[in-house]
Amino acid sequence: MKRLGILLSGRGSNFEAIAESIAAGCLDAEIAVVISNRADAPGLERARARGLKAVLIPSKGLEREAYDRLLVAELARHEVELVCLAGYMRLLSSVFIQAFPMRIVNIHPSLLPAFPGLDAQHQALAHGVKFSGCTVHFVDEHLDAGPIIQQAVVPVEDGDTDASLSARILKEEHRIYTEALRLVLSGQWRLAGRRVIAAGAD
Ligand code: GAR
Repeated sequence: MKRLGILLSGRGSNFEAIAESIAAGCLDAEIAVVISNRADAPGLERARARGLKAVLIPSKGLEREAYDRLLVAELARHEVELVCLAGYMRLLSSVFIQAFPMRIVNIHPSLLPAFPGLDAQHQALAHGVKFSGCTVHFVDEHLDAGPIIQQAVVPVEDGDTDASLSARILKEEHRIYTEALRLVLSGQWRLAGRRVIAAGAD
């Protein structure tokens, strides 16, 4: 069973969706540790409530690489094999990426490469797109840019606000994060250039 490390900075609903999938037997993995860089992240409390190891490593005042070394050490201590970013709102340095090559996945609330960075749902509304969605991807050294594992399309409705669009996208986030993790954990995929190809797909 693969050991997951979850990094989050806030609410933690994607973390909970992963935890629920594991509990339901849909994902053959265990959550070894949940780490937050913010003390006020509700996700930390939610992890504790599930009886999981939840660790606060405050990032304030620390230089990025120094902070990432602390993170890598904590993940290694828990023998984490795959790192799942679940609303983790900090850029990772190459120190971190090189410690877990092709073993870090992230979820982002847009159809990448559209609308990377902060407030992706607001960016989508402001741009006037008719469809947006979410993306699970491997993490490389660039912002929201690594090979795409899974995407889901969500319509933008005329009356949408940031909140209503975010809620519609979030539902799909919870669904595809588990699907993407199933593929990654199965090992039944390969990389062709930037394309993640599931075994049997060709
Ligand atoms: C999610 O919408 C996630 O896609 C987004 O933060 C939210 C976290 O919610 N992540 C990013 O924007 C990363 N660039 P959650 O804490 O309830 O999972």
